[in-house]
Amino acid sequence: MNDLALLLTPEGRALLDEVRDTEPAQELAVATRLRRDHPAELVSAALGQARLRQRAVAKFGAEDAGRMFFTPNGVEQSTRTSVATYRARRLKELGVTCVADLCCGIGGDAVALARAGIRVLAVDRDPLTAAVARANAEALGLAGLIEVREADVTEVDTAGYDAVFVDPARRGGRGRVFDPEAYSPPLSWAVETAARAPHAALKIAPGIPHEVVPAAAEAEWISDGGDVKEAVLWFGTGAPGAVRATLLPGPRTLLGRGLPDPAVRPVGRYLYEPDGAVIRAHLVAEVAEEVGGGLLDATIAYVTADEPRPTPYATAYEITDRMPFNVKKLKALLREREVGTLTVKKRGSAVEPEELRRKVRPQGPNAATVFLTRVAGAPTMLIGAPVRAGDRASAPG
Ligand SMILES: C[S@@+](CC[C@H](N)C(=O)[O-])C[C@H]1O[C@@H](n2cnc3c(N)ncnc32)[C@H](O)[C@@H]1O
Repeated sequence: MNDLALLLTPEGRALLDEVRDTEPAQELAVATRLRRDHPAELVSAALGQARLRQRAVAKFGAEDAGRMFFTPNGVEQSTRTSVATYRARRLKELGVTCVADLCCGIGGDAVALARAGIRVLAVDRDPLTAAVARANAEALGLAGLIEVREADVTEVDTAGYDAVFVDPARRGGRGRVFDPEAYSPPLSWAVETAARAPHAALKIAPGIPHEVVPAAAEAEWISDGGDVKEAVLWFGTGAPGAVRATLLPGPRTLLGRGLPDPAVRPVGRYLYEPDGAVIRAHLVAEVAEEVGGGLLDATIAYVTADEPRPTPYATAYEITDRMPFNVKKLKALLREREVGTLTVKKRGSAVEPEELRRKVRPQGPNAATVFLTRVAGAPTMLIGAPVRAGDRASAPG
């Protein structure tokens, strides 16, 4: 019996409950104790699964992660609930009632789709992964909506489904795969399959070059809590060629308007750091227009402006000082201002933030942010602090 089958027995389930909160440091002692009453193989499977569940909490939340089953690759490659739920709702809004989830992994997306009320055919060719997806549908009470099939997705007939969702494997033997044709299955196969369905969503790496986005697709970059998570190619949304950046938990969606690159302008009192999804979607111009700003430098995604206009798509900072990059000068300034908490941000600078912090040894009760960047090509430090909501309301303009 494999580990999963062992864990699905009544003894396995009871043991999983028992070891649920085991800390890594306690594992050896817990294993030794449990082996007195249970087979060693089951004990190590339960402890391994408990560890994976703990890792999965960040993606799935404690409640679901505590009931689901994972493989090491499965937890790593799965979509977090926030993003999967957002996509599932979009499909639901498009009128989708049944979807073929091609490359379902342990079922992160299938679960969110089913919870949105969509029937799911979930396909994965890896036998253990498919079995885990099945166990997860069962564990979360969604078996009635999710049919798991162990098969190669290239051999699955998707006719009859109103949508296909494809989340290809992007990890090869050596880390992440950047070439979309090296995805398994390749992106070109996914795009062809998408074209045959009324609606489709293909999950891809956020670093994908814009040139490879097919003309028929709408491209959306998604971040969660400020971290870029993925890009999605949508088909059948009625907006071919559209570009969007969506920020979760919102969701807040910025639509591209095809604006030209913003002009470079002199440094103003405010600096806006666009969200990573906005930057990846190439929508910095849309944000610059929203805040009435321009670029600090033609090649860098920092926007500078004279006013603190609130926008969900960028974090605003009030800049108090500007000087050429110079560690000694920064150290002196921070000492004078009694800055003990220094946040280092950089774009267009090779300086290591940690190393800089070590060199300037900030001390004191105050906090500041330093931006290491280029202004009109010259290495520059801009020092300031985030604009808080209250400041924005009272600030002029
Ligand atoms: C990125 S994971 C999917 C993660 C999933 N969306 C989730 O949230 O849990 C990709 C999966 O594709 C599967 N896969 C890769 N090529 C496949 C193929 N040709 N047929 C079926 N499954 C495939 C792998 O076994 C892997 O489980």
